[in-house]
Amino acid sequence: MVKASDVLDRVLVLEMVRVTEAAAIAASRQIGRGNEKAADAAAVEAMRDAFNQLEFDGTVVIGEGERDEAPMLYIGEKVGAAIGSGPKVDIALDPLEGTTITAKAGPNALAVLAIAEEGCLLNAPDTYMDKLAIGPGYPKGTIDLSKSPTWNIEKIAKAKGVEPHEIIACVLDRPRHEKLIAELREIGCGIKLIPDGDVAGVIATTDEDTTVDVYMGQGGAPEGVLAAAALRCVGGQFQGRLVFRNEDEKARARKWGIEDKDFDRIYSLKELAKGDVIFAATGVTDGSMLDGVKHRRGNVMTTESVVMRASSGTIRWVKGEHHKG
Ligand code: FBP
Repeated sequence: MVKASDVLDRVLVLEMVRVTEAAAIAASRQIGRGNEKAADAAAVEAMRDAFNQLEFDGTVVIGEGERDEAPMLYIGEKVGAAIGSGPKVDIALDPLEGTTITAKAGPNALAVLAIAEEGCLLNAPDTYMDKLAIGPGYPKGTIDLSKSPTWNIEKIAKAKGVEPHEIIACVLDRPRHEKLIAELREIGCGIKLIPDGDVAGVIATTDEDTTVDVYMGQGGAPEGVLAAAALRCVGGQFQGRLVFRNEDEKARARKWGIEDKDFDRIYSLKELAKGDVIFAATGVTDGSMLDGVKHRRGNVMTTESVVMRASSGTIRWVKGEHHKG
């Protein structure tokens, strides 16, 4: 049997872009239409169809939800055109990261996925995750989720060679972040409040042009694994801790193999996404990293995607021109 690592090596890297492109194009028809469900459904169906054309044996480990709540791309679903015979890969996906953003034609909606060899991606339950991320170039240990936001901002500022009030933090604009925002305001930090889309928020720390130095706060745990996969490829530091709001969420976590002893654990980048991870994303709406899908004259659509691989550190930016059938 062909080993997954050999296939990950070459073919799949570029194939992944076809998959995120398909999802992004499908979702783009719903940009600004005010219908989150339709946008998500279109992306899910297109991503699933695209996966099912690939010669691999894929298992969705982070997907659209549990089997009884998601008709397609549910956790545990097998995808690929070579189930049982092809190389086995685990897949974390979000066909439309930013459903509300898409419905409102806001910035930074993405179609995203990460693939890795079996067992390399944390089966994160659909709970929140406390996240702390910085881009590449900082000494190891610059961030620590067990310490206060102030401690972290001071460490980042020192490592960057600036004053704490010169640091810019990206935070999801949510009432649950009131305390965090107040603490950052006390320091005098700049805060980039985003309405949604924390995968893009975390990745923004890796690009100096965004001016974002650090990502802080609680967002979806599945999105945390996807963001960690991206940072594994591009460099940076990330720490995440699952946040449970009730017993039901803990039960869900146990179901996906998270043990009680790990409920308070701070996961590092490699504990969330280990091995030779591939991360791919296509812009749905314009964003800090990627332009969105454009429907142009003459039945042409253009897309912008990125695909990166942890083992080589190669990052490919792919511009697509697609002709409507
Ligand atoms: P959707 O694409 O499912 O709408 O998720 C968008 C998002 O903003 C994520 O980026 C983020 O991790 C999560 O929702 C935050 O959850 P909540 O909206 O409950 O604060």
